[in-house]
Amino acid sequence: MTNRESMLEKLADLDTQHAVAVAGGGQKYVDRHHARGKLAARERIELLVDPGSAFLELSPLAGWGSDFTIGASLVTGIGVVEGVECMISANDPTVKGGASNPWTVKKAFRAAQIAEENNLPTISLVESGGADLPTQKEIFIPGGRLFRDLTRSSARKQPTIALVFGNSTAGGAYVPGMSDYTVFVRGGAKVFLGGPPLVKMATGEESDDESLGGAEMHARVSGLADYLAEDEHDAIRIGRRIVARLNRRRTAHLGLDSGLGGTARPAAPLVEQRAQRACRNQGLAFAEPDADPDGLLDLIPADLKEPFDPREVIVRIVDGASADNGRPFDEFKPLYGTSLVTGWAEIHGRPIGILANAQGVLFSEEAQKATQFIQLANQSDTPLLFLHNTTGYMVGKDYEQGGIIKHGAQMINAVSNSTVPHLSVIMGASYGAGNYGMNGRAFDPRFLFTWPSAKSAVMGPAQLAGVLEIVAQQSAESKGEVFDAEGFKGIKDYVEASVEEQSLPYFLSGMLYDDGVIDPRDTRTVLAICLSVIANAPIRGTDRFGVFRT
Ligand code: COA
Repeated sequence: MTNRESMLEKLADLDTQHAVAVAGGGQKYVDRHHARGKLAARERIELLVDPGSAFLELSPLAGWGSDFTIGASLVTGIGVVEGVECMISANDPTVKGGASNPWTVKKAFRAAQIAEENNLPTISLVESGGADLPTQKEIFIPGGRLFRDLTRSSARKQPTIALVFGNSTAGGAYVPGMSDYTVFVRGGAKVFLGGPPLVKMATGEESDDESLGGAEMHARVSGLADYLAEDEHDAIRIGRRIVARLNRRRTAHLGLDSGLGGTARPAAPLVEQRAQRACRNQGLAFAEPDADPDGLLDLIPADLKEPFDPREVIVRIVDGASADNGRPFDEFKPLYGTSLVTGWAEIHGRPIGILANAQGVLFSEEAQKATQFIQLANQSDTPLLFLHNTTGYMVGKDYEQGGIIKHGAQMINAVSNSTVPHLSVIMGASYGAGNYGMNGRAFDPRFLFTWPSAKSAVMGPAQLAGVLEIVAQQSAESKGEVFDAEGFKGIKDYVEASVEEQSLPYFLSGMLYDDGVIDPRDTRTVLAICLSVIANAPIRGTDRFGVFRT
């Protein structure tokens, strides 16, 4: 099988997984929802965002591999509303009534983090049965953070808007309760701390949904609703008008036609054309990549043991040579620490520093080169892009004696304390502390996307199973027992197979360890959207790192 065939097979499977997420609770529940005259979560989003604009959906595979429906009954992503990039989150009422399970909560936290770091307004499209009752113990206490995040967002002057389409009861009532602006749909919104049965139990009072928490009541009596919408379309129209009046700088330059992100491939030439036009309006200019991004399909080996030259990836992602930037990629220290490629480029006219693994292993030279490069990016307030394909830092006597831990620590220090925005793309392997040094999830890159070819774990599955066997053997010997190598084989095979499965992109995406699995050909567009989003907040490098051990 060629590299292209192998990648296309993985991408076809990715489409299948995304289709499961888009199907929400399944046809029966979608039909029932539509029969009630209601729009589905993604339909609401599609009407909310500017016509023909991009919606960068985040973590569409959240909950993959768990007992919960893929997507975690919540759709989150960044969309352009009245020219303003906004964090949009929409409950999917076709999945368990839109109830929040542990993955929903994690996905919502991540959306709030992205809104905070990138100074985005938040629009919540609400219709949820509250906490998923069977798993309430995992949601109830940590879930309070959702409401904390909303009000802290408001305190930072990052506006919060709730469009309430349906149920928003108990704790859920605090989503509109903590939002700056609220729009309630007549006949749809139901917002109360306790429904009629609970009130009856608590106080004996007889009541009904409408008098306890209907849209009309909240608009006229309680004042919780700022706007009473006639229907769902009207609510979305009012929501757009609220954003138009926020007096926010309209920075969005990506009037893209990408369909719903993650689920549909953008039409690349159209994306480039529109983005170029929008960039020119902002005084930015850029050229298309010098090499066709489609070639990425041929480049990435089906077997990750085969190395590939990351410069071939870079030239397919970054702006091509132009009068403005001279050449597409100015490599830094090309002769030193050659297993890590570092250099400067632009994506859609925005500057970026790139660190990309070449031969897989990181040696002391690579770690020191990375440390210097990260400091330079901070000196010039330039965002950084990390392209992962690493099996980690080099092990062995010579390397330990040469100070590989110290040098890796320098790189991890630089990554941890750097304050310019970081983007990470896991192209291939991302193993061991290499994942940390290259800005893995724990190091808070602003966005982290994964290719279907990626694999990430503490080490390779075969190596891990082999280490386990050596440890078991030593343990048996220390107890004076005879090691049963034949008997251990079953355990070893099982561990290897399960680590293999747990290293794969869907599994990692399901755990919210990335912001989505993307088609390599979309990388440029996705990174361009991310850079546009990042530009909503000031970009300032630091000169304050921790102690660099020497
Ligand atoms: N936890 C777990 N499952 C829930 C749930 C919740 N909070 N709310 C709804 N579901 C499940 C239902 O059991 C049902 O499952 P099934 O189809 O497998 O039988 C499915 O979601 C759809 O619910 P249904 O009641 O048929 O949908 P609906 O659209 O008519 O009503 C609600 C949706 C949310 C209004 C209604 O289900 C409800 O009132 N749920 C409880 C709300 C609540 O009190 N939550 C606690 C707040 S902390």
